Amino acid sequence: MNSSRILGIGSYLPPGIVTNDDLKDLLNTSDEWIQQRTGIKQRHWVDASTDIATSDLGLLAAQKALAHAGVDKSEIDLIIFATTSPDYDTPGSACTLQAKLGIPGVPALDIRQQCSGFIYGLSIADQFVRTGLYKKVLLVCAEIQSKGIDLSPRGRDVSVLFGDGAGAIVLGSTSLVTDVRNSDLPHVLCTHLGADGRFAKDLWIEYPGIGHVGSRNSFKEEDQVKYFPQMNGKTVFVNAAKKMPEILLTSLESQNLKIEDVDLFVFHQANIRINEMVAKQLGIPDEKIFNTIELFGNTTAATIPLGLDEAVRCGKLRSGMLVGSAAFGSGFTWGSALIRW
Ligand code: UT7
Repeated sequence: MNSSRILGIGSYLPPGIVTNDDLKDLLNTSDEWIQQRTGIKQRHWVDASTDIATSDLGLLAAQKALAHAGVDKSEIDLIIFATTSPDYDTPGSACTLQAKLGIPGVPALDIRQQCSGFIYGLSIADQFVRTGLYKKVLLVCAEIQSKGIDLSPRGRDVSVLFGDGAGAIVLGSTSLVTDVRNSDLPHVLCTHLGADGRFAKDLWIEYPGIGHVGSRNSFKEEDQVKYFPQMNGKTVFVNAAKKMPEILLTSLESQNLKIEDVDLFVFHQANIRINEMVAKQLGIPDEKIFNTIELFGNTTAATIPLGLDEAVRCGKLRSGMLVGSAAFGSGFTWGSALIRW
């Protein structure tokens, strides 16, 4: 059977930087509270006065990943788009991205696994490549959270956390590589996934959906708040700190590997305190963890590919290194991956 390798990676952050101080008056918060409770100092937000959409950010990351891979867009067999903040409710953003890329006919699949979107997307792409059905899959993870959050003190617990951004990879079959033992190209060792829908309402965006009483025709002014993300922060925190180490260990055990065998950990970035608890439970030294939350905030599905790309660009992640990754988010969903870079 084939296995899959990351042929190229790319990311994009909108240029606008929003500091904690910029949010102070708007959200009735403070730099001190945000830094102490989350580790975030700033995040990138798009210019909300423009019609920029999530697929636009995805497109820029995808173009960089294709260029990095040396792959022409015409060679892509499948697009997977992971986002919590789609351009439109319908159709999915994979279709709008496909049109912007200019590759009509290529299958385009949206996945809605929120902060676990990259790991779920990687797992799906990996299965298609392993079976040989597709040789080159473009996985794009992009978010514009800033246009969808509650920018009033009512939403401050959620709204200080999120940033905008995009990350993309081109996943290809090892059959494309002349020497399959060549460790110069990354290799997906395994992915593991989990979910527990009993917690769906602990982090959700209720509207516009149809899972409630009445039709859209009866939406009221006071329902406005239901269009914003609502979170039971403590429940999310506790479950994230439990599930991320658990599923990472599942991946390691499946490969007969130990924590010490991993060279770099690139986790989802929801709260620095979650990642510190994960590291403590697993005995991971600080120097083996690559965090981006301080500067990017939580970019939901885009977080891990953004982190991987950043780690490559600053020389922390190099060829041949073993990367361990885990994520947790709304659903609840969670997942882990081991990648030989
Ligand atoms: O990636 C998706 C998954 N999301 C997560 O993993 C997030 C998980 N949860 C968290 O990161 C944390 O629960 C939060 C950062 C969201 C909140 O931190 P916390 O330590 O759990 O605070 P809390 O919700 O217990 O709130 C403590 C206090 C409250 O005030 P009182 O009731 O003690 O007077 C809140 O009203 O902090 C207040 N508060 C804020 N104050 C200033 C909540 N948000 C803010 C804010 N600025 N932004």
